[in-house]
Amino acid sequence: MTTSKKLFIKTYGCQMNVYDSERMAETLAGQGYEATDQAGEADMILLNTCHIREKAAEKVYSELGRLRPLKDANPDLKIGVAGCVAQAEGAEIMARQPLVDLVVGPQSYHRLPELEAKARSGAPALDTDFPAEDKFDHMRGPRAARGPTAFLTVQEGCDKFCAFCVVPYTRGAEVSRPADKVMAEARDLVERGVREITLLGQNVNAYADADGVTLATLIRRLAKVDGLERIRFTTSHPNDMSDDLIAAHGEVEKLMPYLHLPVQSGSDKILKAMNRRHTADHYIRLIERIRAARPDILLSGDFITGFPGESEADFADTLALVETVGYGQAYSFKYSSRPGTPAADRAEVPEVKKADRLARLQALLGAQQKATQDAMVGREVSVLFEKSGRLPGQMVGKSEYLHAVFAETDAAVGEIRKLRIIESSANSLGGELALGQGPVTQSA
Ligand code: SAH
Ligand code: SF4
Ligand code: F3S
Repeated sequence: MTTSKKLFIKTYGCQMNVYDSERMAETLAGQGYEATDQAGEADMILLNTCHIREKAAEKVYSELGRLRPLKDANPDLKIGVAGCVAQAEGAEIMARQPLVDLVVGPQSYHRLPELEAKARSGAPALDTDFPAEDKFDHMRGPRAARGPTAFLTVQEGCDKFCAFCVVPYTRGAEVSRPADKVMAEARDLVERGVREITLLGQNVNAYADADGVTLATLIRRLAKVDGLERIRFTTSHPNDMSDDLIAAHGEVEKLMPYLHLPVQSGSDKILKAMNRRHTADHYIRLIERIRAARPDILLSGDFITGFPGESEADFADTLALVETVGYGQAYSFKYSSRPGTPAADRAEVPEVKKADRLARLQALLGAQQKATQDAMVGREVSVLFEKSGRLPGQMVGKSEYLHAVFAETDAAVGEIRKLRIIESSANSLGGELALGQGPVTQSA
């Protein structure tokens, strides 16, 4: 009997890390590793990390500390750190936490097989290069079964250099994968049952391959793939929202009416200090054009409170922008000073002010989010079912607006059905089959 080795990956941070973790698991499957969700039985544990805020980065060290008993119990266990903390801190990680055997930065994942072998031989394995080759070209493993939704990274890195952000340093310069490779990967996913693809990039709307294919063109090409029913993309920068991409929202039926478009602040002074290179007014006019193309689009954003120099009046501008735009979804954070970024040496807003502003902003965003969700009641939406719910006969899926919808239905995973929304609860909607013949449903 051959026993395969077991791999446990824990993923932090953004969707790009989720995608990378899937690809790392596939790559290591080629080395005989089988995925497990039990850290205790693993022969290799990989933490795929995030460096975006101090808390995110510090989490990694506490998690590593918790792995010590596993390593004591199994001396053959190898522990690796991947992702943005690996890129930012490199060999420092092994110095600070000697139980780490392997450190690999986001652009070097295709070298995992060699690094794994090196770690197995007892040598420290470290790679945080930015090699020229496309790592995804070299990350091919056996084709694993897929659920109905998938992420597909098409663009990596960032050239924007917002004054607060580590991403340009941890992920490197903006690089777009060739459109034909993206199309091939998308077709492969669809053959494996995927119905919805979310195109990913740190600045996905800056996508432009060597042949000049833009994100809008890529979306139009993907829309022609039979069996692919839904297309999404995230995350976008306001300055890269081209006319063509805006138009696609009104023209491409498979492109879902949901857009994550971070603005960070509503104050022109702070936007300038952040190096966002647009004004609040520019953003608001952009939103108007997007809504003209697709009136029902659900908007999502990111915000930072207490960026260095932010006054109460600047923060009021942020609240005013939120009032004007009206978000259906949002993520907001207290500013966290990151080593090596331009804002790191600026005088900080006191912690209590950051926290107070965050609470006020979240109250407003939360109310908008709830109102948007409640307004779905009585409407007909289409739901892609992803898994069964907690109640017998219940299924859970996502509407085109990315709301979680529960319904009692005989629909299978991967099916799309029209539902009428009958109920809005804390974080989800309840629906019944449209056309009146569906059973009454309950949301969990
Ligand atoms: N490329 C994306 C995502 C960047 S990270 C974009 O530009 O939208 C996701 C979010 O984290 C950012 O939009 C920002 O709101 C937040 N963020 C980034 N750096 C931060 C920092 N130093 N402190 C607090 N929040 C931060
Ligand atoms: Fe960070 Fe700004 Fe780039 Fe987004 S656009 S990844 S916030 S530097
Ligand atoms: Fe975090 Fe890196 Fe993503 S810093 S948000 S994991 S790009």
